[in-house]
Amino acid sequence: MSVILTDADYEVFKRGLKDTIGLDLNHYKQQQMQRRINQWLDRTGVKTYREYLKILQSNGEERGKFTEYLTINTSQFYRDVSVFKEIEEKVLPDLLKRYRRLKIWSAGASIGAEVYTIAMILAELSPGMTHTLLGTDFDVGALAKAKEAVYGENLLNTLPRMYKDKYFQKEDDLFKLDDNIKRRVRLQRHNLLEDPYDTGFHMILCRNVFIYFTPETQAALTAKFSESLVPGGIFVVGSAENLMAPEAANLKRVSYCIYQRD
Ligand SMILES: C[S@@+](CC[C@H](N)C(=O)[O-])C[C@H]1O[C@@H](n2cnc3c(N)ncnc32)[C@H](O)[C@@H]1O
Repeated sequence: MSVILTDADYEVFKRGLKDTIGLDLNHYKQQQMQRRINQWLDRTGVKTYREYLKILQSNGEERGKFTEYLTINTSQFYRDVSVFKEIEEKVLPDLLKRYRRLKIWSAGASIGAEVYTIAMILAELSPGMTHTLLGTDFDVGALAKAKEAVYGENLLNTLPRMYKDKYFQKEDDLFKLDDNIKRRVRLQRHNLLEDPYDTGFHMILCRNVFIYFTPETQAALTAKFSESLVPGGIFVVGSAENLMAPEAANLKRVSYCIYQRD
């Protein structure tokens, strides 16, 4: 029998979830989350949400798996080729002309593919220079994969050949990222909804994360990201994530997926 999670059940589930895994689903699009949770409960064979909350409370491994499922860690190196080409050919060279050392944040970094892509690009654009590169995510499982930095070839499909050949070592079917790139990046757990935001960034990427948030939360977080940027700093979103009122956060759209702070 499949589980039916009603709106009332969802409210209780949300409260329980906040207590157990620390994620406040009120900020996420309800329909989408509800559907995913229903599907998960169906698959696990648990009959009621209360029963599942009890499992989550007592079983750390299940908490990890559920968090990973719920937060959706899909990522890829050089994801959205045209956007990364622009970052590589225009955005970063412009920033490097203005500032010698860059401070960049990949927020919702998942398995690290995005922030490591930036690290490789910077290694080419400014050899020998040290920049501050931060990758954060809520999901510790994704961050553990980022720290390991060993990837299946499918995650490198859109990465230009030169980077793949130069910065990865093939081990059986997997690709291991060069230590020299790994050590340029600091990875850290951070909940975008609750934790304080650092400031002074020249570029922030928050890609394919906003799509899961409600419009109100998207607007609130956009304002926080903007405050974390230096004037003229760059904010990059995912290809399905046009900001609705960028000017309210002192941002102007400069290109597809790319905004600049006034
Ligand atoms: C689809 S991945 C995007 C990865 C990468 N930015 C990209 O575009 O390839 C979304 C990531 O956002 C993270 N995330 C979701 N809610 C979050 C929150 N409240 N705080 C921090 N990260 C969050 C998820 O854990 C997941 O790793």
